[in-house]
Amino acid sequence: MMVLVYFLIGTCFITLHVDGAAVPDKTDDDTAPRITKQPEYVLIYRDSLATSIDLECEAGNVPNPHYQWYKNYDTKFRIHLDPGTDRRYTFTKGRLTIRNPDVNVDPGDYRCVASNQYGSVISDPAKVEVAFLNKFDDRFRENVTGHLFGRFSIDCRVPLHYPDVEYTWYKDDLPLQDHIDVFPSQNGRLYFSYFMASGKFVCSVTMKKPKGGGFVPQTENSSDINVLFTRQGAHANHATSVIPIFPEELPAVFPYPPMKGEELKLECVALGRAKSYSWTKGDGGLPAKVRFEQYNRVLVIPDAKLEDSGLYTCTAHGPYFVTPGEYDNKKSFNLTVQAKPYFTQILKDEGVTEGSKVSWRCEAKGEPAPSYTWIKNEQIIRPIPGDIEIKDNVLTIHAAYKRRGGLYQCQAKNIHGSTYTSAQLRVSDTKVIG
Ligand SMILES: *[C@@H]1O[C@H](CO)[C@@H](O)[C@H](O)[C@H]1NC(C)=O
Ligand SMILES: *[C@@H]1O[C@H](CO)[C@@H](O)[C@H](O)[C@H]1NC(C)=O
Ligand SMILES: *[C@@H]1O[C@H](CO)[C@@H](O)[C@H](O)[C@H]1NC(C)=O
Repeated sequence: MMVLVYFLIGTCFITLHVDGAAVPDKTDDDTAPRITKQPEYVLIYRDSLATSIDLECEAGNVPNPHYQWYKNYDTKFRIHLDPGTDRRYTFTKGRLTIRNPDVNVDPGDYRCVASNQYGSVISDPAKVEVAFLNKFDDRFRENVTGHLFGRFSIDCRVPLHYPDVEYTWYKDDLPLQDHIDVFPSQNGRLYFSYFMASGKFVCSVTMKKPKGGGFVPQTENSSDINVLFTRQGAHANHATSVIPIFPEELPAVFPYPPMKGEELKLECVALGRAKSYSWTKGDGGLPAKVRFEQYNRVLVIPDAKLEDSGLYTCTAHGPYFVTPGEYDNKKSFNLTVQAKPYFTQILKDEGVTEGSKVSWRCEAKGEPAPSYTWIKNEQIIRPIPGDIEIKDNVLTIHAAYKRRGGLYQCQAKNIHGSTYTSAQLRVSDTKVIG
């Protein structure tokens, strides 16, 4: 009966009679849900707990959407969240609120399922993770000796933390000024290219501010790191300081892994008396959007794209460098920007008559390259020889019949996560047309 009404109000009613294949487009009151707002990842701060956290899910303007939430859906520990069993959960349409979040209980993958009489779709997973920064445990730090004009580094020995932290170094209680001979790396080390002065150093680490804000990031200080001073070997150090030596661990990219959409920093430092630095990329030029910090030792790539991947070469220039030939004043870094899959071709609704062939194609980019799974009403579709064929991102139904109608999703997945595109297949009854 539903189908009959549907055809009577369809605007392409005439077309139907003519070619017998096309059916009217969907009308507003005949729509299965699709996820229009995906839940996003949430951090719970171990040492300053919020009163509640929210995960949002929205299924567009469709009739009678019904939302359910699952935790760890893709595992055998899947939990269907129910306010009846845990009173900390509240459902407000698509939103899940968890009151008094618990760092031991609540972390995990969360997904919502939106359904109505026309089908059901599942959202992308959103992680709830614990953000923390432990205290330094370095009350008995040994003193460090710096050789005049020498190269060396001191390690912050940053305590366990998640996610990334930022470093500020203090010398004799004052923030360390930018200087061409000193380099604070995001790897937690403070490098001296050409050591000049002793002092008391403190490494101060601060949790990075989340995108949402509202939270005062925690800071922890190391105990004093005394760097003493010796003139021993000063002559030799001065003589060899014209040779650039790149630390084995640099250049490197921060944060790691380098993700699409983030601001990436490529760091390079040559220990020795470098006077300036420059960068090149592959055989082409650097992307126009890049900028430099810290005497060009840091190349900043805002809003990283997959196309920003490539071989970056850092060159240390110094008036006394004895290159070319004898010493290399260049070092390269192969950047591969990583990305959770995202669709470049989404699924579109299809309306066909019984017996027609349906071929659907979705296409996603990602790094590493994504793999595909096809899903109908939350169930993974298995190929049926001669009936349903699946070739990665192409789904073919050789002869659609009534039971094949419903909500289809194409999932693209790699190690960084998964994402979905969905569309509805309507198979019309040929009898109604005649
Ligand atoms: C480390 O250096 C400080 C400051 O120079 C000094 O007071 C302290 O005795 C030294 N500690 C050790 C273990 O040598
Ligand atoms: C860390 O040390 C610096 C320099 O001594 C000081 O200015 C700052 O207030 C300290 N911060 C914390 C959180 O202790
Ligand atoms: C850089 O890394 C990519 C991906 O890992 C690889 O395909 C490419 O050959 C590397 N390029 C160089 C110059 O090493």
